[in-house]
Amino acid sequence: MASAGPDKPRILVTRKMMPDVERRIAGAFAATLNPDDRKMGRDEILDKARQHDGLLLTSFDKLGPDFIPALPASIRIIATHSVGYDHLSIPQAEAKGIAVTNTPGVLTDATADVALLLMLGAARGASWGDRMVRENRWGETTLISPMGHDVSGQRLGILGMGRIGQAVARRARGFGMAIHYHARRPVPAEEALGATFHARFADMLPHCDVLSVNCASTPETRGMVNAAALALLPQGAIVVNTARGDIVDDDALIAALSSGRLAAAGLDVFRGEPDIDPRYRGLDNVFLLPHIGSATPRTRSAMGHKCIDNLNAFFAGDRPPDLLTR
Ligand code: DGY
Repeated sequence: MASAGPDKPRILVTRKMMPDVERRIAGAFAATLNPDDRKMGRDEILDKARQHDGLLLTSFDKLGPDFIPALPASIRIIATHSVGYDHLSIPQAEAKGIAVTNTPGVLTDATADVALLLMLGAARGASWGDRMVRENRWGETTLISPMGHDVSGQRLGILGMGRIGQAVARRARGFGMAIHYHARRPVPAEEALGATFHARFADMLPHCDVLSVNCASTPETRGMVNAAALALLPQGAIVVNTARGDIVDDDALIAALSSGRLAAAGLDVFRGEPDIDPRYRGLDNVFLLPHIGSATPRTRSAMGHKCIDNLNAFFAGDRPPDLLTR
């Protein structure tokens, strides 16, 4: 049951948030917090939703298909603590008159930083290097083995040139990389930073020593980085994904990494995460992270405050700043 608060909107918060965020939520709403950060399943969230007017949930909640049609009529808004909203169907929300908001902008830098971390970590063998030191195998190094791959001066292809893609491009410029990108349309010249636009994804791929996936997961992008796409990358290319796991075809990526067609991959996101394809664990040329693109205190706090700003605006009768629904 939500804590008492006369006339305050009743908000169910599915995960533990940053302390400053929780304090503000507790003041602004009749909130049900999750102090133990217990993972609630779909049925529990649906059941608890009955006593609430709004949900503050995350892309890490396991909502399953057709979550929104199953919501009780009391729910009027869902504020997702994420920029990605592929876990929620906007048409279903619109059909039910439920507002949906997300948290764009505040996690751009943190996520772009992780894209660079993955690119460098994958290229220079961060995971096998770390393991060699921990396993006391440093003595095995010679002047010619093990070896990583150059990043500086190489060509970077960015799939999706939104805020995060552009932030990746700005950082990669510092490494002297030539930037190529594929997006639905070219971005304005000052944002493209001299990057070369490719209207067709397939046309960009031969120019990518590194491919960075930075687009949203949509019906159009799901499975886009498949065997045919990977075959167009230069021999020894590197794939980096900080967007969503389902944009990449795991079978195709694992085959290309195993055969040596691709040199390495750096992955922060996975289809079905946290239950990732176990074959990744056995590959030495992958650098794996547990979806931490936005995981810094400043960023997670800013995301939480954005959720509150959106909920406050909605319940005040104003248009939430990050409204996704009509
Ligand atoms: C986002 O905000 O979409 C991040 O991937 C965390 O879900």
